[in-house]
Amino acid sequence: MDCNRFIEEQSRELRRTVGDHIAINALSGGVDSSVVTALGHRALGGQLKTVFVDNALMREGEPRRVVEAFDALGIPVDLVDARQEFLSALKGLTDPEEKRRAITDTFYRTVFGRIVRQSGAKFLLHGTILTDIEETVAGIKRQHNILAQLGIDPQQAYGYHVLEPLKTLRKDGVRELAACLGLPADMTHRIPFPGPALAARIVGEVTAERLATVRAATEIVEEQLASTGAFQYLAVLLNDCATGIRDGKREFGQIIVVRCIESTDARTATVTELSWDTLHSLARRITSLPGVNRCLYDLTPKPPATVEYI
Ligand code: XMP
Repeated sequence: MDCNRFIEEQSRELRRTVGDHIAINALSGGVDSSVVTALGHRALGGQLKTVFVDNALMREGEPRRVVEAFDALGIPVDLVDARQEFLSALKGLTDPEEKRRAITDTFYRTVFGRIVRQSGAKFLLHGTILTDIEETVAGIKRQHNILAQLGIDPQQAYGYHVLEPLKTLRKDGVRELAACLGLPADMTHRIPFPGPALAARIVGEVTAERLATVRAATEIVEEQLASTGAFQYLAVLLNDCATGIRDGKREFGQIIVVRCIESTDARTATVTELSWDTLHSLARRITSLPGVNRCLYDLTPKPPATVEYI
């Protein structure tokens, strides 16, 4: 792919379509949304408003880290604190699909809907890539156009059109483009992280306290396993508890599962053969977290298991 030509053509098209209006996009910190943010700003400058919604479900320091990384590139990003709205929507929910739906609805119907209306934006830039469209058509993925899935016509509900400048590219093309746009390598070569964020890794109710536990375990796992080069590694908080001993006293404590997989496209996966040293070190560090007294390593390939737990 001729990156510079692609950037030039898409920028011209974005400028032509947006005209004098305002466009908006939501940055998640993932590769696709990062590239669409950088491309959109190159094309539209101050006419593109970028927001990062803190949904309380992100990893340690992630909202601030993403905003600062873009700030360093000269791209302003508004950090919107919607933590309470998401936590309220998730309160009492334990069913995986209900939890996912609560997150999607809170984002699109409540939080982002409000931001769009306040901004007066007429266009939404979205980081849809070709694989999203293909997997939707093949029935592998839930509808990539989440608004259509929710039965929302964006033009009618919010008065905006959706623009998808990356929809002809696959992941490798997006990564190439990221380099051309000057995005740092650690931003574009991140391991996959799901849309529902840490909520995909909590079995049972998502509360601020349970998020803190899985967030701390995630930090340990990501730090310890970064050098493995594995496709993806993560920590999961189970809904069960188990008896253990801490400081000479019985404790009915929490259980963290560590998952580390090899894959090319996440459709199938095998388990990484971590060394005993690594596994012992993980277990020692994770069981030093308050209230966590067991650490398990998940030996299940995909299928039959999925990568995430909800
Ligand atoms: P599963 O759990 O379906 O995950 O085996 C396959 C890959 O997709 C990621 N994943 C998601 N990514 N929104 C996303 O953007 C989601 O709802 C979602 N669920 C799973 C997962 O991390 C893995 O890489």
